Amino acid sequence: MKPFEGTKPFYRDSTQCVESRVEDLLGRMTLEEKIGQMCQYTRYPENYEELVRAGKVGSLFNVTGAEQTNNVQRIAVEQSRLGIPLIFGLDVIHGYSTIYPIPLAIASSWDPEMAKKAASIAAAEAFSEGVCWTFAPMVDIARDPRWGRVAEGAGEDPYLGSAMARALVEGYQGEDLADPDTIVACPKHYVAYGGAEGGRDYNTVEVSERTLRDVYLPPFKAAVEAGAGTLMSAFNDLNGVPASANRFTLTTILREEWGFEGFVVSDWNSIGELVSHGIAGTRAQAGKEAVEAGVDMDMEGNVYQTTLARLVEEGAVSEETVDDAVRRILTIKFRMGLFDRPYTDTSLATEVVQCKEYIEATRDFARRSMVLLKNENGVLPLKKDLKIVVVIGPLADEQDALLGCWPCMGKPEDVVTVLEGIKNKVSEETDVLHAKGCDIQGDSTEGLKDAADKAEVADVAIVVVGESREMSGEAGCRSTLDLPGVQEKLVRDICDTGVPVVMVLLNGRPMSISWPAEHVPAILEAWHPGIQGGNAVADLLFGDFNPVGRLPVTFPRTVGQVPIYYNHKNTGRPPTPLLYTSKYIDLPSTPLFPFGHGLSYTQFEYSNLKISPQKITPDSEVEISLDVKNVGDRKGDEVVQLYLRDLVGSVTRPVKELKRFKRTTLKSGEKTTVKFVVGPEQLAFVNRGMERVVEPGAFEVMVGGSSEDIRLTGGFEVT
Ligand code: NOJ
Repeated sequence: MKPFEGTKPFYRDSTQCVESRVEDLLGRMTLEEKIGQMCQYTRYPENYEELVRAGKVGSLFNVTGAEQTNNVQRIAVEQSRLGIPLIFGLDVIHGYSTIYPIPLAIASSWDPEMAKKAASIAAAEAFSEGVCWTFAPMVDIARDPRWGRVAEGAGEDPYLGSAMARALVEGYQGEDLADPDTIVACPKHYVAYGGAEGGRDYNTVEVSERTLRDVYLPPFKAAVEAGAGTLMSAFNDLNGVPASANRFTLTTILREEWGFEGFVVSDWNSIGELVSHGIAGTRAQAGKEAVEAGVDMDMEGNVYQTTLARLVEEGAVSEETVDDAVRRILTIKFRMGLFDRPYTDTSLATEVVQCKEYIEATRDFARRSMVLLKNENGVLPLKKDLKIVVVIGPLADEQDALLGCWPCMGKPEDVVTVLEGIKNKVSEETDVLHAKGCDIQGDSTEGLKDAADKAEVADVAIVVVGESREMSGEAGCRSTLDLPGVQEKLVRDICDTGVPVVMVLLNGRPMSISWPAEHVPAILEAWHPGIQGGNAVADLLFGDFNPVGRLPVTFPRTVGQVPIYYNHKNTGRPPTPLLYTSKYIDLPSTPLFPFGHGLSYTQFEYSNLKISPQKITPDSEVEISLDVKNVGDRKGDEVVQLYLRDLVGSVTRPVKELKRFKRTTLKSGEKTTVKFVVGPEQLAFVNRGMERVVEPGAFEVMVGGSSEDIRLTGGFEVT
């Protein structure tokens, strides 16, 4: 007999409110079943059927396919005592099957609406395959490009990062967790994981509480405000208390200050790793630390499963603590509608996955994510009827790398390479030659001559260089930011032939490309652009699309400049040509390409800055407006960026901070007025007394096309 034949317990009644259903169910659960809800495993653990039947699993991840998830779900729902459905998780990071650009690239669009749309496509595909929960977005601020996971986030800025966090959560989750075609988001890695010392993954993080609140926490707060159903606690040690045992961040800030009502899942065995961190002598102690800090679900660590019951029985952990965690997990499951609709329609995926509309959208996301770093003498756009185009480089005809880190269900064979994209684009009379030149890594120079020979006869050489998929993402940290292997030598050799060179970068982080930046006339940052990457690159290079992307991270001249980020403090001795100032004696102080940078095939003129009123009170707003005109000869997008500087504070303040931005599309000769309103939320910071306040004093206003390309300045005062 099935568990509920003939009867319908209260919690199964979908007309009742979630809260009462949760309480009813919780009241029926044994301690073992409660702990079961707090355990998550990857794929099919040994004896999984037995475990699920016994109510010892709350979630599985990396199980995909409607049939597969339905099969396990059936055991949970129809064969376990209480029939609690499982929640199926997966790292759906930048697409499920239709892979679009990596998150850092998506952030380069400076277009939250686009990011939202991208996430909603990923959600619809994942949902159709039985996945109802994604471990995304990664909203970690990353100020160190050596850290491989810079590829997975929105870069270095808390404001842009928050805008992206909000958009992605909304895109995955839709309006309501129960909406079809949506999946629950899990902003990660809470918190300050991106502050790893030396940019080395999993490494120690030491940041002051002020920096935590001003820089690292805002994107998480934005994600929570957008309604994120879950959150992931990070691996890192945070000021001595690992993030997965940190009651201050997980409970005081997250739940008490922000009112987060979802549940927290650990990162992969980050509870078990509390033993390696040395804050727990045993796994049982690790379990106690984590659950009492506020980690509700144990990802793959098996710590809660093996230690928690005993801890409760011995009185070391109260059953209320367990109840709180289970209550949060069940609440999300009810809110998702899992109890009422636990199965996935197996016919859905064929309609949704890789449908034409999604593939086309992906091409557009890729174009909008690319950043034109340099374009000297109008080398770009190229003409489609050139006689000979040579496409050179280890990434020219590469498929796998375009997927980027976390390719999910994406397959290399779905990828349009840059070479293919260019062939699709040029006229029938154009000859497209190809030479690999060298490998991504390794020191063989054997292929360089062939590449240079082909360049000699061409009208233009498009050199496609960068990183493989594995060189960024989790554990993909690098101690140098140079082009790997002999790729820079390849670029130099091609430049030596005298042919006009266009360099296309496919990579997952800012790179130190000082030599190319000086000598190559045109450089396009295409990131890891996803399955339509090759077509998107061709759209930009041949002028069918006017570049709109802007950098969400600073590009250093060399790795020795790291950490280098635009919103730094002034110091007591800002750099000047004088010796005793804050700089390196062997490098300019400026970055190679600044935060916010990105060119278009047209140009924009800024004028008429108006700030009103000139004086405001700490709780009121100021309006900043200006005119932007397209003074070039083609339609294009400008991303107007507003930076503020609080000139004197009770604590030192950054030299500038992005506070607003607006994308505007203008035809040639067209002019528009852009208006920004800033108020307490944008002006406040954590003061000397650790309170978030707006302090009276003067603010400098800077408006421009990048953090360095400031076109208009002014000011106002808070009195
Ligand atoms: C570890 C990673 O840090 C995290 O980002 C990911 O979501 C989990 N593994 C699950 O794959």
